[in-house]
Amino acid sequence: GSGRAYEAWLSYSQRGGDVQIPNPYRQCFEHIVVAEETDIVHSAVEELKHAISGILGHMPTVTSVLDTPCAIVLGTTESLSKLGGWIQDEEAGKLTDEGYLMKTVETEGKLIIAGRSDRGVLYGTFHFIRRLCMNEDLSRLNMVENPANELRMINQWDNMDGSIERGYAGRSIFYDQNRFTADEQRIRDYARLLASTSINAIAINNVNVHERETKLITAEDLPDVARLAGIFRDYGIRLFLSINFASPIQLDGIDTADPLDPRVREWWKRRAAEIYAHIPDFGGFLVKADSEHRPGPFTYGRDHADGANMLAEALEPYGGLVIWRCFVYNCMQDWRDRSTDRAKAAFDHFQPLDGRFHSNVMLQVKNGPMDFQVREPVSPLFGALKKTNEVLELQITQEYTGQQRHLCYLIPQWKEVLAFDTYARWKGSTVDQIVSGKLFGRPHGGIAAVSNIGNDENWTGHLLAQANLFGFGRLAWDPRLSSEQITDEWVRMTFGEDTETRSIISCLLLQSWRTYEDYTAPLGVGWMVNPDHHYGPNVDGYEYSRWGTYHFADRDGIGVDRTVKTGTGYTAQYYEPNASMYESPESCPDELLLFFHHVPYTHPLKSGKTVIQHIYDTHFEGAEKAEQMISEWTKLKGKIDHDRFEHVLKRLIEQADHAKEWRDIINAYFYRKSGIPDRKGRTIYS
Ligand code: GCU
Repeated sequence: GSGRAYEAWLSYSQRGGDVQIPNPYRQCFEHIVVAEETDIVHSAVEELKHAISGILGHMPTVTSVLDTPCAIVLGTTESLSKLGGWIQDEEAGKLTDEGYLMKTVETEGKLIIAGRSDRGVLYGTFHFIRRLCMNEDLSRLNMVENPANELRMINQWDNMDGSIERGYAGRSIFYDQNRFTADEQRIRDYARLLASTSINAIAINNVNVHERETKLITAEDLPDVARLAGIFRDYGIRLFLSINFASPIQLDGIDTADPLDPRVREWWKRRAAEIYAHIPDFGGFLVKADSEHRPGPFTYGRDHADGANMLAEALEPYGGLVIWRCFVYNCMQDWRDRSTDRAKAAFDHFQPLDGRFHSNVMLQVKNGPMDFQVREPVSPLFGALKKTNEVLELQITQEYTGQQRHLCYLIPQWKEVLAFDTYARWKGSTVDQIVSGKLFGRPHGGIAAVSNIGNDENWTGHLLAQANLFGFGRLAWDPRLSSEQITDEWVRMTFGEDTETRSIISCLLLQSWRTYEDYTAPLGVGWMVNPDHHYGPNVDGYEYSRWGTYHFADRDGIGVDRTVKTGTGYTAQYYEPNASMYESPESCPDELLLFFHHVPYTHPLKSGKTVIQHIYDTHFEGAEKAEQMISEWTKLKGKIDHDRFEHVLKRLIEQADHAKEWRDIINAYFYRKSGIPDRKGRTIYS
């Protein structure tokens, strides 16, 4: 691929002269001076050459000696100190391992990009390119950046038959027909996209590890896995594998996978040794155990700490990590059972284990207690563990948010999650402080997300869904970046500098999450989707299922009572004052009311509307906003290239159509249940 959709936000060649580089700095772009060559620095230089030649139409020379007056100079702080005295010790001292600094040395005509490590050089280079594309003033570059999170990870849910669990952008770029694909360039280009946003880890197979994928840790597949690891390594990305907890049984016919059985422990140690013989910098294991029918320690009467620690011991000699998922709940619930609350499960399973996990174990916790709904409260597990490393898990792939047929830009949602104050230690104990490891001084921390890419030409199915992938990486590096800033970066990198284009696309993105929420499940209740594939409205689709996902709508009211006083007691899993805030319907935020409370349709919200009127209003308005997105986008006709214009237009039309389906089904359902008419008399299909 070579089109703009394929090149995504690294598409430079058609910037149409909208990048201006004033003199004297223009001359700097003739020469790149590289103080040292590692594979990663080499990648950085290639990216810089590619960007400069695309934007300016000439290929810069690359040398390792300083023989020109003006140049871009890049390298590690250590190697640069041998070339010139541009960086003070004090400046260099501010950098952590992956950090970088950038500065203009005006007197010498130099633009300096320096990393503490070669990965820092790569991130600095991509940042430099971004600034270039955004026409920022090069005469005053002066910045130091360090990542907030050590682990910035992508989880692929790819299966080796080429399918992708919850994938909406074609088939796997990694596998086909139970083999590795031959298209290494595609994987390299993916690595480039990820590295450009600072991603430094990837798990290359689905957390549901089926029979074929179980073999990925064996001699049969390790050479291929090592080949992929090599591609990602060039871009500073460490490779992880999802593993099957029952591997010893499945691969070697051992009669148990009991984590306390010496044979099992020995087995995993030998596996680790073999993996590291092929991949010396192997990242570690991602584990879904005792969850949705996956095997795990429970079978043997052991707990999750026993399971995770066994793997941690096997990986520990090599510096590997165990990323253990907390998505553990009873997926065989009886809907008649009102005492079990799925939302409570992760906390109940893991909080009591605090302090028992080895230091190279990280617990990966989904942002909400249920499963990536358009609106959920933040999981109370964040901050509940003080002696355990935590990783936040987000879902870039839009399983419940329109499956990349609808536009739903998730950065604003993730920002709310990261900024949520858990009060775990004091006021200001935000989720970003917890997962980075800062709040409790943890050795490891980070953010992971389920990828939204496949082998579609434009990677993400919906072109604008690229923004979610880009934004995730940017937030993982710096959770304090605003939604607006990330959006602006992505739009300008992808569509150029035209003011109207920028403002229209930014507005579309920034409003899309709210719009999607408006025409789908109301007030935090979730789950009103078709079972299994999760696309489209079905209010009672999950109401009598075994998944623990109910809304309890009857003729009088709707919502799940999760209070301590009269409900499941879930609110007690939060620290104060959050527990009290959620416990009372008066202080519970409107948008989460039905997550925490069962209320009559006539219950007044803080907005002054009743619940039923809110449902009608948001559904009419949401569908209308979806319709307006089409006319907004249409203003861009002729301003952006035909292919990308038509592609997005088609998706927006489909979305508007489908939003009406949502509107009418949800409104009809609640009108029929409640018998309460719309105060504004709009059409509801009774
Ligand atoms: C959701 C999703 C599954 C996935 C699971 C998980 O339930 O629908 O496809 O396997 O999450 O995160 O493990």
